[in-house]
Amino acid sequence: TKIWALIPAAGIGSRMKAELPKQYLEIDGKTILEHSLSKFLDHPSIEKVVVALNPEDKHWSKLKVANHPKIKTVEGGATRAESVLNGLKAIQQHDGANDWVMVHDAARPCLDSGSVDALIQAGKDSEHGAILAIPSVDTVKLANANQTIDKTLNREQIWLAQTPQYFQVGQLADAIVAGLKQGLPITDEASAIEAQGMHPALVIGTRKNIKVTEPEDMMLASVWLAGM
Ligand code: CTP
Ligand code: MG
Repeated sequence: TKIWALIPAAGIGSRMKAELPKQYLEIDGKTILEHSLSKFLDHPSIEKVVVALNPEDKHWSKLKVANHPKIKTVEGGATRAESVLNGLKAIQQHDGANDWVMVHDAARPCLDSGSVDALIQAGKDSEHGAILAIPSVDTVKLANANQTIDKTLNREQIWLAQTPQYFQVGQLADAIVAGLKQGLPITDEASAIEAQGMHPALVIGTRKNIKVTEPEDMMLASVWLAGM
């Protein structure tokens, strides 16, 4: 199987409240986006990497990786799902509809290669793809509209989704197109696949694979990256 990586990096990072979109903030001399990309550029099973960039991006072209032979860029969209879909369309135009793709947030720089290996392995056994996720360590409450507790969910059944999320390219593109048409909230790839009645596999990731979202996450990411 030919495996692509697809990195949605077109967001503006509003919750980070920084001068730059968060994927361009540096940790240990490299941008968060470069840390995330390196995990795929260095992985022998990943053949090409597609990066979805904001149409107004002013930072990408200054990076060293901008001319990397394994990388192709596309324009991102107004939502993460649309950014991913643009990337999938580009892969399909390169005859990749039957290939597989790992979609990974630019904002998750602490991914480890063992998790990528585990996901590739799980994809071989699943018809509907696989995602990295971790069993919840917290008790999860379902809230009412007035911020009171409706009920407690069964923790044994609660998993927190991460990326990468690994699917067959054509299957994922079709699911996202259908989901967007139906007006569904598609916050990750698996949610689009689930909405079409399919059941992706859950692969246990690590708690280090955080999504850098708020200012305090920068320090945590730098600690995990220092140990990689
Ligand atoms: N993303 C994207 N296109 C969008 C929105 C988000 O490619 N229209 C990407 C982001 O760049 C990020 C990933 O999707 O790598 C996960 O999104 P999130 O963490 O929400 O990033 P932002 O949308 O940039 O941050 P915020 O929601 O705080 O504005
Ligand atoms: Mg966002």
